[in-house]
Amino acid sequence: MMHAGDVHLRPISEAELEQTRAWANDPELRRLILRVGEVTCADQQRWFERLQTDASRQVYAVIEAGQHVGNTGFYHWDKVHGRAEFWILLGHGSSRGRGLGGVVLRLMLAHGFNTLKLNKIFLHVGEDNLPALRLYEKFGFRRESLLREHYQIEDASVNVLGLSLLRSEYNGEK
Ligand SMILES: CC(C)(COP(=O)(O)OP(=O)(O)OC[C@H]1O[C@@H](n2cnc3c(N)ncnc32)[C@H](O)[C@@H]1OP(=O)(O)O)[C@@H](O)C(=O)NCCC(=O)NCCS
Repeated sequence: MMHAGDVHLRPISEAELEQTRAWANDPELRRLILRVGEVTCADQQRWFERLQTDASRQVYAVIEAGQHVGNTGFYHWDKVHGRAEFWILLGHGSSRGRGLGGVVLRLMLAHGFNTLKLNKIFLHVGEDNLPALRLYEKFGFRRESLLREHYQIEDASVNVLGLSLLRSEYNGEK
């Protein structure tokens, strides 16, 4: 369990799956997280079951003042190379646009670099997802790739940026 003030991150539980699925199927959010296609109950259940056995995936529910407002995690945690892919989704509209993303990212960077002993945290973000880009760059993430027209979402091509933050660049506070 990680926390800062009334924001807690704890391993996602089965009780949070239906809300998680609703966010994954929300058209506005889907575009931001570069996801295509409906997530069924069975898909969501399989995803959760995989979390129980796949140590390369760590997923946390974001709880603010007792309410489940989003999810975050690391995928592709590679212990040999010391890297993992960060992702975040604040699902409730009222949880976005007021700095909560920074609180969560700060906790996850500390977890990644200090607890998991990662050397590199990387992520992918749609080129037009300006709040996410601004957040990541504010925390020192650097652009390292541009994947041109990498996704076709709702008949539009989306360019994707690859960003990363190295242990040597992480200063622990932002
Ligand atoms: C991306 C996300 C984590 C950001 O968290 P947040 O708490 O909403 O972000 P903030 O309110 O702190 O905004 C981040 C920065 O973007 C800026 N910003 C917001 N909207 C903006 C816009 N349209 N253009 C440019 N900058 C913008 C904010 O001013 C802030 O910068 P500042 O701290 O210098 O003022 C959150 O909005 C989210 O989960 N979105 C949906 C899913 C998603 O996009 N996930 C990321 C996929 S890679």
